[in-house]
Amino acid sequence: MVSASSYHFNTPYFSHFLCTLFVGWHTFANVAAQSPSASASATSASFTSDPEATLTADETKELFDFHKKLVKIPSTTFEEAEAIQFVFDYISDLGYYVEKVDVDGSRYDVFAYPQAIKDEGTWPEVLITSHLDTVPPYIPFERREENGTIYHFGRGSVDAKGAVAPQIVAAHKFLQARTDTPSLGLLFVVGEETGGDGMKAFAKYAENVTFSAAIFGEPTESKLATGHKGSLGLTLNITGKAAHSAYEWLGVNAIDFLAEGITALNAVESVLPTSELLGNSTINVGRVSGGVASNVVPANANASVSIRVAQNITSAPDDISALIEEALAPLVRRAEHAGAIFNVTFAAGARPAIVLDTDIPGFEIGPVFYGTDIPSLPQVKKKYLYGPASIKVAHGPDEELTQDELVLAAEAYGTILAHIFPPS
Ligand SMILES: *[C@@H]1O[C@H](CO)[C@@H](O)[C@H](O)[C@H]1NC(C)=O
Ligand SMILES: *[C@@H]1O[C@H](CO)[C@@H](O)[C@H](O)[C@H]1NC(C)=O
Ligand SMILES: *[C@@H]1O[C@H](CO)[C@@H](O)[C@H](O)[C@H]1NC(C)=O
Ligand SMILES: *[C@@H]1O[C@H](CO)[C@@H](O)[C@H](O)[C@H]1NC(C)=O
Ligand SMILES: *[C@@H]1O[C@H](CO)[C@@H](O)[C@H](O)[C@H]1NC(C)=O
Ligand SMILES: *[C@@H]1O[C@H](CO)[C@@H](O)[C@H](O)[C@H]1NC(C)=O
Ligand SMILES: *[C@@H]1O[C@H](CO)[C@@H](O)[C@H](O)[C@H]1NC(C)=O
Repeated sequence: MVSASSYHFNTPYFSHFLCTLFVGWHTFANVAAQSPSASASATSASFTSDPEATLTADETKELFDFHKKLVKIPSTTFEEAEAIQFVFDYISDLGYYVEKVDVDGSRYDVFAYPQAIKDEGTWPEVLITSHLDTVPPYIPFERREENGTIYHFGRGSVDAKGAVAPQIVAAHKFLQARTDTPSLGLLFVVGEETGGDGMKAFAKYAENVTFSAAIFGEPTESKLATGHKGSLGLTLNITGKAAHSAYEWLGVNAIDFLAEGITALNAVESVLPTSELLGNSTINVGRVSGGVASNVVPANANASVSIRVAQNITSAPDDISALIEEALAPLVRRAEHAGAIFNVTFAAGARPAIVLDTDIPGFEIGPVFYGTDIPSLPQVKKKYLYGPASIKVAHGPDEELTQDELVLAAEAYGTILAHIFPPS
């Protein structure tokens, strides 16, 4: 039996943590109503655009054209080479220093920054970044006009080329307009959809560098994201002893122990951390198997479990695994006493929840529930997450966004950059 007081969330740190997280949903409706961009798209959140960030007609055309070309290139994870080369050449032609960062000997990230920073022998202090790989299958680009709105359909049109194109256009516009060379780098990685090997390779390449801020691009419905949950997987595997069901006392029923284990595990949910920002932590027992027939005492049973952690402490997965082990310990001992093995195994790759920065005035904000590359680049102080369109269409057959959403995103990235680098 686990009670909340036996866990260390009652420490002053956690109280402070809860206060800090009391953010919830804020809608800057009054601000949005005055924004010139507010009418840009009925389906998008709005923000107060920096006037300097407003795209010209030529920049808008370039944005649509670049997005189209990028979506046309298939770039399913592990087959990103053509998209990487395309972005490498495009940024290189704009006059930046560009390099390829090796990921696995045959796949690369694109990393670019102003030549003046390279000449000083330093690294950029701020990154604007997203990923070039997509989920399968490839869906060709299609430009479609419906009811006066122009849509870009196709795999990756949202996730995440819908962020990449506005990021590049906005970053270039921003750097061009400034005479003081803001210390900004552009990073486009591979492998985000399958565990983040691209971002992890970059994090290692930059292991001695700390970035003061990074703007990550993923679909956030044009809101500045407040955070996302962490995740932790585990398996319960019970080895009992088979016997004829008529003589069940000769065996050890693994399913009975599993059923008790599941009940004990679900009871832990109510003492897992909760935050205003990210909601409740949740436990999902998603798969069970065991036994061979109704007349045989089952010798094996197991369950796969996924936990979504609404807490922003990097050590959270360890804390939570300790909590779960504690909750199951009496049962594990009882199983062992009965001659069974009750094995609790935590999956590798637990991810902490992430709390993001939202201190840019005038944006609508809200949480997202999917995972990102953000935990794979820990050496970033301030973390922003923003992108056009919805994750709900992102991996589906009708992935699309509107041209207005692309423009809104470019202007939003420009506004965030202007906030990070105030004019000197
Ligand atoms: C266009 O308008 C028609 C009629 O109002 C509507 O049925 C359709 O869903 C609209 N299409 C889009 C993409 O909004
Ligand atoms: C980081 O610094 C350590 C210690 O100076 C050095 O051994 C290592 O090679 C550096 N890593 C990179 C990627 O430069
Ligand atoms: C689960 O237990 C069975 C025996 O009951 C064993 O064969 C299997 O390897 C175990 N699996 C894991 C992942 O421990
Ligand atoms: C979180 O859990 C509490 C207690 O179980 C419940 O009252 C509340 O509605 C839950 N919040 C959300 C956002 O699901
Ligand atoms: C789970 O139990 C089933 C049925 O006993 C068995 O076939 C399978 O290998 C087990 N899985 C693991 C991960 O132990
Ligand atoms: C539990 O299962 C894991 C994975 O199969 C294995 O490495 C570990 O030794 C097992 N522990 C016990 C106590 O059987
Ligand atoms: C967790 O929240 C605290 C307080 O807001 C913050 O200082 C810290 O950076 C956050 N941790 C992570 C991993 O985001």
